[in-house]
Amino acid sequence: MAVDASAFLHDEIKRSKKKLEKALKQGDTFIAARQAKRIAELLRELAKYRKWSGKELLELAKEYDELYLKLKRGELVPVSQVPEEIRRELRKPKIVIAKPKGAGEGELAKLTREFDIEAEKLIAKADITWDDIAGLEEAKRALIEAIFYAIAKPEKPVKIEPPRRFLLYGPPGCGKTLLAMAASNMLKATFFNVSIDKILSRYVGDSPKMMAAVFRAAYRHAPSVIFFDEVETLAVKRDLGREPAIGLVQTFLTELDGFKSKKLEKPVIVIAATNKPWLLDEAILSRFEKRIYIPLPDFKARKELFKIHLEKKGFEIQGITYDELAKLTEGYSGRDIANICKEAIMKMLRRANPKITEILNKVKDLSELEKITYKVAPITKQELLEAAKKVKPATTKQDVEKYSKLFKG
Ligand SMILES: Nc1ncnc2c1ncn2[C@@H]1O[C@H](COP(=O)(O)OP(=O)(O)OP(=O)(O)O)[C@@H](O)[C@H]1O
Ligand SMILES: [Mg+2]
Repeated sequence: MAVDASAFLHDEIKRSKKKLEKALKQGDTFIAARQAKRIAELLRELAKYRKWSGKELLELAKEYDELYLKLKRGELVPVSQVPEEIRRELRKPKIVIAKPKGAGEGELAKLTREFDIEAEKLIAKADITWDDIAGLEEAKRALIEAIFYAIAKPEKPVKIEPPRRFLLYGPPGCGKTLLAMAASNMLKATFFNVSIDKILSRYVGDSPKMMAAVFRAAYRHAPSVIFFDEVETLAVKRDLGREPAIGLVQTFLTELDGFKSKKLEKPVIVIAATNKPWLLDEAILSRFEKRIYIPLPDFKARKELFKIHLEKKGFEIQGITYDELAKLTEGYSGRDIANICKEAIMKMLRRANPKITEILNKVKDLSELEKITYKVAPITKQELLEAAKKVKPATTKQDVEKYSKLFKG
């Protein structure tokens, strides 16, 4: 079986991006240039494997070429000049080297801009497609509809307000983050990945300013998806009566209101996620016009999950069917199943390639290792069963009942 190198390329690109990011932050244009060039080359290589996104990857490669040339000329690149695509690509784009300096500017303006820059660092990559997500048809449809009606124009002037604020709730590891990423990807939007907990701990006392900055950044980069993870932290922290959190909740509510009435050229969508929806109070809940339960995967979705994490990645299974695997894993989350697959793949690789230590001892350098191929065998029933035994589902029947009773009746 031919081994698809795209996963490897993907990892290499990620590694190079991290180095590029670091170099840009330190102002080391030499290293940054080298990494930009390498990323362009890797992207062109990756494009060969990607039927659907090949063209986009090549375009992106060109942007890295340009960045390379700029860096090679020794230019420091201020954030505003880094192409939009690249900014979005870099997970945490700390490419804020040159800050614009206005004469005699006020402290407040300066502070505002600092938060604007911080907010841009929350831009993350979202390269998930709907097909990467098993089940959850209702959630997918709701998000797709929201995107469609936010952009397409009605044939005659009717007043329509597609929902723009979604709350995804349900047990951990069932696809909330994936859904937000897929929605963002479909919209070709800028994806803001915001952990409320991190905002609270990182910007103590200033968290409301940071929250406001996140919304401003989303408008600036529209179309955008703002993903607020662990929103229940807001409620929990409020109960503890911590001053900064109260301010943060207020700003959050105000921004969500302002956002609703704002006329936007390009759509901005807010998706919040929580594992503990019962902690949220009416003030927060009522702001989300669409609340979607993201349950544990049912039989069909579990079967699909195994296929996504094995078959679609080029692996074969032996001695067991996908139906049997789905039957065996009732109560498991998507993350549990993904972990079972990863574990089983490792077991298979260990069995098929028992001599890697000897091989590693023999090779002199990495370039030699790059030429070595390793075996990929079908994954056996035993490997899958052993992997499944290791992973214990975290969500109990009681939890499931608690979720499904919520917001009903
Ligand atoms: N429906 C699904 N389809 C495909 N993979 C899934 C699905 N649900 C979970 N996974 C796998 O589990 C991982 C975790 O999923 P995700 O981050 O979307 O969960 P989550 O609901 O956001 O969890 P948490 O509440 O813990 O943040 C994914 O990266 C993926 O590998
Ligand atoms: Mg998540």
